[in-house]
This record gives sequence, structure tokens and C-alpha cells, in this order.
Amino acid sequence: MADKKNLRTPIVCVMGHVDHGKTTLLDKIRGTAIVSGEAGAITQHIGATEVPIDVIVNKLGDPKLRDRFIVPGLLFIDTPGHHAFTTLRSRGGALADLAIVVVDINEGFKPQTYESLQILKRFKTPFVVVANKIDKIGGWISQKNLPFAATFKKQSEDVQARLETKLYEVIGELYNQGFAADRYDRVTNFQKTLGVVPVSAVTGEGIPDVLMVLLGLAQKFLEANLQYSATGPGVGTVLEVKEEKGLGATLDVILYDGTLKKGDTVVIGSLGEPIQTKVRALLKPRELSEIHYESKFKQVKKVTAAAGVKISAPGLEGALAGSPIRVATEETLDEIVAQV
Ligand code: GTP
Ligand code: MG
Repeated sequence: MADKKNLRTPIVCVMGHVDHGKTTLLDKIRGTAIVSGEAGAITQHIGATEVPIDVIVNKLGDPKLRDRFIVPGLLFIDTPGHHAFTTLRSRGGALADLAIVVVDINEGFKPQTYESLQILKRFKTPFVVVANKIDKIGGWISQKNLPFAATFKKQSEDVQARLETKLYEVIGELYNQGFAADRYDRVTNFQKTLGVVPVSAVTGEGIPDVLMVLLGLAQKFLEANLQYSATGPGVGTVLEVKEEKGLGATLDVILYDGTLKKGDTVVIGSLGEPIQTKVRALLKPRELSEIHYESKFKQVKKVTAAAGVKISAPGLEGALAGSPIRVATEETLDEIVAQV
């Protein structure tokens, strides 16, 4: 068995149609308010946030659960739902170990819901479906942050029936797309059947349930991938090339495998020849903050996968968003330049 200290943090991509509540769901999980800072509340980039396991277990409301999980935390990737951003969604989908597909239970499936499912099918990514905005079902009486079963019990029979009808429309659509699915508390084997969790990202109802299902998937992912401890040479993807005051061009990177250290030689894709440079500084966003919006970074000597990190190094101007970045040694440099 691999050293538990070096377990790789699973990457969880949040996908779905525009305005169905992806960023709001993440805000609820992190305890932040990113949505309110977005222009027209539309996400236009890929965001990345690390959420440590302790923060997640806190939301489950039972500290005893902490020991059940070997997962060190989750790296959440937010994607835009607007139709213009197919490339960003595929990029997010390609990076994901696991995913959350968010669908507005009142609106049902929309073009980018289907698109998200296609991407996840293509990469064979395990995922959970979140049927969001249950607080907007007619007659629903919100019960802040309660688990789904508890809030469901408090609704009238009419309202319960309304939810079940809408939920079964979602389950039917998933079936049409080739996925067996059911309300998550009726699923016995999450490897075979998709769990659908009814939630409200605004009131927090059902959020503990989403996290529970997600941690279950993350645990299975790690058990299957324990050999990928995060100690090898770093491999990642460039999310953004950004000009920063005093640093010049920097890269926001998702490191999805291995370790990246200050002073490492890295090879990065560009329009012409790959860039070869030495890492001058590694900058991490504060805990629970998203790399795209962060203004305060702390310098670190190394990062291990999966993580979001800003890289400062000479000669990054020509780097391309979406291209690979890899750590090279003297022996592997030529081979890695050729691969990149
Ligand atoms: P894009 O990033 O543009 O694809 O949208 P998104 O999926 O991130 O949606 P976002 O989280 O920005 O939410 C869109 C709108 O729906 C916002 O006004 C949210 O406040 C609202 N919203 C999200 N979740 C819920 C919910 O559970 N209930 C209610 N009533 N409103 C919600
Ligand atoms: Mg968003």
C-alpha cells in the first residue's frame, strides 16, 4: 500500500448548463461568495479551489466520520455553463477524476447538461448528479442546511410528490443518455447506478448528502489509484497566463500528478517551440479561495497533486492556456520537450 501521506487529492469538476447553480453550490461547500463577484453571475473561466477534508467533514455534521476517509481533501474545478465555453468545459472534464453534474430540477435538461454528460462519458469519469433549486418547487418550506431526508420529511405530501415527479424526469433523461440512475438514497451500488441528490445550493438543504456521495466516490477512486502517490515529477495543465504586478507573466496551473518544486526545470507548451524555464516562485492561494480571484498568495517550496498553483518563472509570455506543463530533469529533458 502506498504511503498515505502522499495520497493524491482527487480533482472534482463541477459541470452543467448555464445558471443551474454550479458556482453557488461550490460557494456553499467552501463558505464563500464567488457568484456575487462575477459579471452578470456568469462564470467565464475555469476556477480551482482546494477544500481540505476537515472542512468537508464539518459540513457532514458528524466529526466521528473523519476517520472513515483517507481522502486528504478535494480540488474542485468550476466550469462555465454558457454555450460559448465548450473548450473550457472539455478541458475541465479531461482533468477530472470525479465530477458533479448540476441540473436545475425545475428547468430539467438543457444543451450543456447533455454536453457535460457526453464529456464525462468520453472520459469514463465517475460522477454524481445534483438536482438543484429544490427550494423553488411550489410550496417548498426551506430547512437551512438540513440533510435531504430530514427536509423532505418536513414537506407536505403534495410537495413531496412534486419533487418526486421532477426528480423522475431527471432520472428518465439520464436513462435516455445511457445512464442508470436513481435518487441517491435508493442506490446500493454507486459503481453501477448514478446517484441523484436533490439539493438547494442557496439554502444548503441536501449539501451534506452530496458531500457524502462525493467522498464515497473519492474513496473508491483513491483505492483504485493508490499507486499514484503524488511523489513523481510534476505534470499539469495551464489554466491561464496572467500578468501580475512585479512578477511579469505568470501561469495558473492545475498540477494533476506528482510534485513540483521551486527551482525545478519545467517544459510548457506554446505556439512555437516548447518553453523551457526554471521555477522562480510557487504561489498558492489561501485555503478555500479560488485561484482565479485570489489576490494574496503565499510562497511555498513545493506542491503535490492535485493542486492549483501560480508559477512565476522567466520567459512565460508565450505560454498557452490549455497546454501541458511538465517537470524535467537533465536526463528526461529532451524526451519531455518532444512530448510537450
Ligand atoms: P454559469 O457559471 O454561468 O454557468 O452559472 P452557474 O451554474 O455557476 O450558476 P450560478 O451559481 O451562478 O447561479 C445562477 C443563479 O441561480 C444565481 O442567481 C443563483 O443565486 C441562483 N441559484 C443557484 N442555486 C440556487 C438554488 O438552489 N435555489 C435558488 N432559488 N436559486 C439558486
Ligand atoms: Mg458559475
